[in-house]
Amino acid sequence: MYCIKKITDDLTWVGANDRRLAMFEGVYSVPNGVSYNSYLLSDEKTVLFDTVDKAVRQRFLENVAYALGDKTLDYIIVQHVEPDHSAALQELTCLYPDAKIVCNDKILAFLEQFFDFDIRSRAHIVKENDTLNTGKHELHFVMAPMVHWPEVMVTYDSTDKILFSADAFGSFGALNGALFADEVDFAKDYMGEARRYYANIVGKYGSQVSMLLGKASKLAIEMICPLHGFVWRKSINDILSKYVLWSSYEPEEHGVMIAYASVYGNTENAAEILACKLRDKGLKTAMFDVSVTPASEIISEAFRWSHLVFASTTYNAGIFVTMEALIHDLVAHNIQNRTVAIIENGSWAPTSGGLIRGSLEKCKNIDILDAGLSIKSSLKAPQLSEIDFMADTIAASFPAAQTSPASAQAAPDNAIDASTMFKLSYGLFVLTAKDGDKDNGCIINTVTQITVTPNRITIAVNKLNFTHDMIMKTGAFNVSILSESVPFRIFEQFGFKSGKDTDKFAESAYDERTANGIRYIPEHANGVISAVVAESLDYGTHTLFVADVVQAFILSGERSVTYQYYFDNIKPSPQPPQEKKEGYVCKICGYIYEGSVLPDDFICPICKHGAEDFEKL
Ligand code: FEO
Repeated sequence: MYCIKKITDDLTWVGANDRRLAMFEGVYSVPNGVSYNSYLLSDEKTVLFDTVDKAVRQRFLENVAYALGDKTLDYIIVQHVEPDHSAALQELTCLYPDAKIVCNDKILAFLEQFFDFDIRSRAHIVKENDTLNTGKHELHFVMAPMVHWPEVMVTYDSTDKILFSADAFGSFGALNGALFADEVDFAKDYMGEARRYYANIVGKYGSQVSMLLGKASKLAIEMICPLHGFVWRKSINDILSKYVLWSSYEPEEHGVMIAYASVYGNTENAAEILACKLRDKGLKTAMFDVSVTPASEIISEAFRWSHLVFASTTYNAGIFVTMEALIHDLVAHNIQNRTVAIIENGSWAPTSGGLIRGSLEKCKNIDILDAGLSIKSSLKAPQLSEIDFMADTIAASFPAAQTSPASAQAAPDNAIDASTMFKLSYGLFVLTAKDGDKDNGCIINTVTQITVTPNRITIAVNKLNFTHDMIMKTGAFNVSILSESVPFRIFEQFGFKSGKDTDKFAESAYDERTANGIRYIPEHANGVISAVVAESLDYGTHTLFVADVVQAFILSGERSVTYQYYFDNIKPSPQPPQEKKEGYVCKICGYIYEGSVLPDDFICPICKHGAEDFEKL
């Protein structure tokens, strides 16, 4: 019996789930099964996006037949030849002999390697930016080599703004009745499997994934339909922001992953003592016995954490077998940008530490700390000081805000949620600072992310603002990213007074502060960024602060307010004067300068904008 799910009026999921498969690709355990997604677009022409694995071929064919109804199949788009998506192709072409196979040159070549039926005469070859019109829908083909094989392409439906993303944005795990990521608690229950899928399937190809993300960033995407796992129709940035981090090999979290291989428990003992000391310093830790936890899970965790500790006994004059396999796998998956520490054990000739170091040194931007530990058979009391030193050295390599036990527990956890950066636009922001007991804030309109590694922003602040002076003195600030619900009173509160002679928070209902102790605006803002100044550049009326992000979090899914939106919907229109006056009105705040000539260097006393922002009454 068919089992399909409707996605839009024209689009239907016709895939199937496999919960009996033990090892995906023969190497990755899938205790929660796996889904093989296929989608049928029913337009004037009918289009099937990929097929499924042979294990679920029967259900898939029933689904396609039912979803087609009395129509026939016109096109089969093959985006990826790997047999978990192409196994049903030959049978499908027997059932629908007039269907054209839409593919690129490489896909055709790979299909001919896997199959023995006549594919070439049915092939409709496409290349980058080619389109296929199916009636109402226009499909655009985008090449995505090495995500996950060299032939891969993805398809963008510009009519419904849907990206059919092949393996990208997929996840392990069968679909249990829900098709959309927003139908489940994805962050809590599924992000781990999405990360494990990414790290193990395409983790090696970060630069190619980045290229695809670059192409995708130019498209207006309202839905993502991958070949495994959930369809994304809401909060798409949740998964996009993870892909930005993963593909750039940036850690998601500051913390220490300890992976150990221990035959008789003595290496494990040293690893656990280190974990306790790191926790005492307020650092997050995660531990894995590499002989018990599948390598794919540890690879995934290595993509998550900023610091990695490997502890291994020596075995046959080398690295212990399971640890050797893990290290080989990590290097093969291109792990980068991590700080590493190593513990070795060996009863007569400890060599595992040097060998682990030698392997990891091949990876980019791996900082291997000299503070390692070499034990003979078991840890002895005099070596506890070496573990102390190791813990101190690891802790010292963290940003300061990550190592205080108090701040490590503080909500929202001192973490940097990179997706906060997606909230930035040419918009309006409340910039806050703190100097001693003095809290202050002002309105600014220039916040820009300039680099991801390190996560760095710039803000331009008028020197006449008291907040400017506070930042010059303290080197720290918060940016609250205002959203479209922001009322005009927020601009009056922070933009139309001077903090030099007013307490802008005197009548404020807000007292929320980030880990740096600086206030932020919890209402009418959709994200908050805390930063410390790395450099300040004098630009006459303004100072340009270049600053490192130390904390960032999302407050809401509301749209950021843009400058245009502010003028169109929030700022009251300037009231016409009761009697005709000669003068100029500030386009920003409505202040009226009376006089026939506005001096070139005039500064609005209310909002601090210059003469260029005034217009004649
Ligand atoms: Fe799901 Fe690369 O195949």
